[in-house]
Amino acid sequence: MGSFLGIDVGTTAVKAVLVAENGRVLADSDAPLKVDVPRPGWSEQNPSEWWDAVVAAVRGALKQARGRPGVTSIGLSGQMHSLVALDGEGSVIRPAILWNDVRTTAQCRYIQERVGQAGLRRLVGNPALEGFTATKLLWLREHERANFRRLRTALLPKDYIRFRLTGSLACEPSDAAATLLFDIRRSQWSAEMLAALDIEPAILPRIVGSGDVAGELSAEAAASCGLPAGVPVVGGAADNAAGAIGAGAVAPGNVVASIGTSGTVVAPTPRPLVDPRMRIHAMNHAVPDSWYLMGVVLSAGAALGWLRRSLSARGAALPEYSDLLAEAERAPAGSSGLTFLPYLTGERTPHADADARGVFYGLHAGHERGHLVRAVVEGVTFALRDSLELIRGLGASPVLATAVGGGARSTFWRQMQADVYRLPVVTVGPGTGAAYGAAMLAAVGVREFESVGDASREWQRQITIQEPEMNRAEQYETAYRRYRNLYPRLRGFFRETARA
Ligand code: XUL
Repeated sequence: MGSFLGIDVGTTAVKAVLVAENGRVLADSDAPLKVDVPRPGWSEQNPSEWWDAVVAAVRGALKQARGRPGVTSIGLSGQMHSLVALDGEGSVIRPAILWNDVRTTAQCRYIQERVGQAGLRRLVGNPALEGFTATKLLWLREHERANFRRLRTALLPKDYIRFRLTGSLACEPSDAAATLLFDIRRSQWSAEMLAALDIEPAILPRIVGSGDVAGELSAEAAASCGLPAGVPVVGGAADNAAGAIGAGAVAPGNVVASIGTSGTVVAPTPRPLVDPRMRIHAMNHAVPDSWYLMGVVLSAGAALGWLRRSLSARGAALPEYSDLLAEAERAPAGSSGLTFLPYLTGERTPHADADARGVFYGLHAGHERGHLVRAVVEGVTFALRDSLELIRGLGASPVLATAVGGGARSTFWRQMQADVYRLPVVTVGPGTGAAYGAAMLAAVGVREFESVGDASREWQRQITIQEPEMNRAEQYETAYRRYRNLYPRLRGFFRETARA
């Protein structure tokens, strides 16, 4: 009997899961991470802290499983876009600049001028946004010349961990797609984009398949993690791609709606579907020759977290989420005319507007706390529906949504998702999440399964299913139209107030 180890390098924690050959979760261990904010809008982490957290999480998982069964192979996943800069000796030059760091607006403008919107669409299929890795490389070149001169290799977070585990420099299509330097149609680095931005191709690692072996655990790393040397490490995937397969969204038809701090809607597609206005991301999936569309809602669970804190007196115990949601459930669908825009930290999909801000619209004297909570939960769900509408508009026709993340724990919120998306909403088990998806890729890498689809069919089961309730869906439709109408009316005002 063997087991498969999945490691996810998140933003707030590294997670390690050990999965048995039948898909059962044998152990599940987290090691927390902190984010440094050296200036407003900046967001950094030291890659050596990821490594320490990986060692702690893996050791934690092995301890839980009491060393049995042995680890057959390892899969990696991680936060997307974040830049790790290495010198010629493989040492980290400066802290990693993370996906949620927004210092690179000028570099986005530069890329836009160099290649234009049509060039971006044709070469990399995605817009120049602050989150994407290429903008961070250009920032380094402009602002830290000495560091940039030392740069020999640019890596993504999980690929840095692979380097520490195996000594091998490699990336795979799903994470490469999020750099803005990857031709998502041909699944290779875009020579044309690199030339346009004057970036040396040699700084980028080779591309391997997500489910292919990319290296073996070195003796040194094995000793640190408490594992035997030589265990194969597969390509792995970006956290959203790994999370999608970890939730059973391997092939078109199924979307994954994730409500964590941020929210994402991921829809696998049989070919790269690029929105003409690039309002939604098009990326390579962790399954060979397949792609996905992804909408990103920057403040999803974070919006409810904000309300929860805001409703409480300083120093007082915060209300339980379950109590808040029960209160929301007692308010009517549509929150008696109250609309909430969840753009607390700007928005990515569909508006790509860093100036957008949160809004409560339509307050009247009859509204109570439950209406406020319900409006926030509805606003976040409508934001996810916006992504789903873009997905539908591009011809992908989802028939099922799998709910994951903290938001999926509430029956009320899942039913709301079913009503708002007008899709059956399911939860799956025994495991979900990016680390579980990474373990699935580890199993595929050693041919335990022929394909990710086989692994998913073998390992995963539906646990709950909720069908849309048409009466309530109609009430939400009215509220959703009101929600949709609000942003276009405020866009100019957001920009004006941001300038002021
Ligand atoms: C996706 C994105 C985030 C990170 C979080 O484009 O920026 O979801 O992947 O880890």
